[in-house]
This record gives sequence, structure tokens and C-alpha cells, in this order.
Amino acid sequence: MQRRDFLFGCAAAAAIADPVLHAEHASAAQRPSAERPHEWSRARLLDTDGEPLKASSIEPRKALLFAYPFVGTPAFLIDLDKPTQRSVQLETQDDERYTWEGGVGPKRSIVAFSAICAHKMAYPTREITFINYRDEPSAVTRRAHVIHCCSEHSEYDPAAGARVLAGPATQPLAAIVLEHDAHDDSLHAVGTRGGELFDSFFERFAMKLSLEHGGAEHRPVGASTTVVPIERYCRQLMRCN
Ligand code: FES
Repeated sequence: MQRRDFLFGCAAAAAIADPVLHAEHASAAQRPSAERPHEWSRARLLDTDGEPLKASSIEPRKALLFAYPFVGTPAFLIDLDKPTQRSVQLETQDDERYTWEGGVGPKRSIVAFSAICAHKMAYPTREITFINYRDEPSAVTRRAHVIHCCSEHSEYDPAAGARVLAGPATQPLAAIVLEHDAHDDSLHAVGTRGGELFDSFFERFAMKLSLEHGGAEHRPVGASTTVVPIERYCRQLMRCN
């Protein structure tokens, strides 16, 4: 398999925060809204053979990785195997409200989120990943079907826009906006919703990312991006059991 030109390192506390609950304590008039997605390149998702990825070919309840919107910014693609929640109201750490519309595909079960932890930006690299989708109960909260970060145990609900379930993260993972074409079963990434951390990510890991990507980490992925199983990308998957 030819691995995609993206590479992701792991960095690793604060109080438990739930942005949905937090939103209830601020008046609506005080909170700005970010109701429109941030449009990035419209990138067709490809499989490891370079063919358009079919939604029906995605193995359910397994984490896949792809680069979006930049070569150096990893994202999860997951078929949760059951319909997600719809029109979930969320809020960033900057108190911006936004709506996550839900999963796509025939079962409305396919979701994508930035794989950069909203706490201290742990992310998958070729060597190791501390953040991953957990189909089995996590070691700390015992919840299943979550995205869990072993660094300080932030946990996110991928069926509800990656809202924070536990741990020190102060906002959901940024959502990747997907489009599914029912005619050919293809998938495109077209933008992001929520609290992007890309600028901070590039700043914090500048040297590491430059080494990993040969200086191409800021390059937009363009018209396509390759999806790989996380276990074929990362040598070690931290379980924090
Ligand atoms: S980096 Fe701290 S919980 Fe993920």
C-alpha cells in the first residue's frame, strides 16, 4: 500500500467541560454564531488503490484516517453503523454556536472529525496515536463507541458531533463536512464546522510537521485525499487500559 503524504506526533489538563451544558449558562444574545461551514477544497475521498472510496465499502466501527483540509492535518472517518443524532447544537471554546448536521451515507452513519485533540492537540503519527475511535468501552469512562484521547482522557461522542463527554477538552473536535453522492456511493470532504485548531497546530508542531511532510504540511489537499485504516498508518495504537 502506498501511504498518504500525511504524518501526524503526539503531544499530550483542566476541568471537565461540556460545551452543550456550558451554552445553557450564557444568554443567546451574548453568544456569536458560526452557522456556515468553513469551506475548504472539495476533496474526493480515495481508497488506498487510488479509486473513489465507496461508502458501502467502509468497514463499520473502524477508524480510518485521511488528511484534510491540509496535507499535515489528520482527520478520522468512521462508519458508526447506525444513524447519528441530527442537527446537534454545539459550541466552541470561543462561545461560537454551530450546528452539526449529522452523519451521511445510506444509514446516515458516516462521520468525519479532525483527529487533533481539542485539549493539547495530540494527533496520530506514523509512530503512535493517543487519540482513536474506541468501539469497545474505554478504560476511563467505560463508554463504548467514542473517540478517546489517552493523553489526559478527553472523550468525544462521534454520534453527536464529537461533543465532549469527559476530560479536559473545552470544545468538540472540529467536524469535517462530508457529502455523499447516492448515485455512485462516493464521498467528498468539503469543509469544516466548529473549533478549528489548525493555526495553533501548525504553530506548536512547526518543526515536527515540517520534518514529517517535507514542508508541505500547509498545502491544501486539493481535489482528492486518500483514506487509510489507522492501524496501517500508526505503528502503535495506545489503548490506555
Ligand atoms: S491532548 Fe490532552 S486529552 Fe487529548
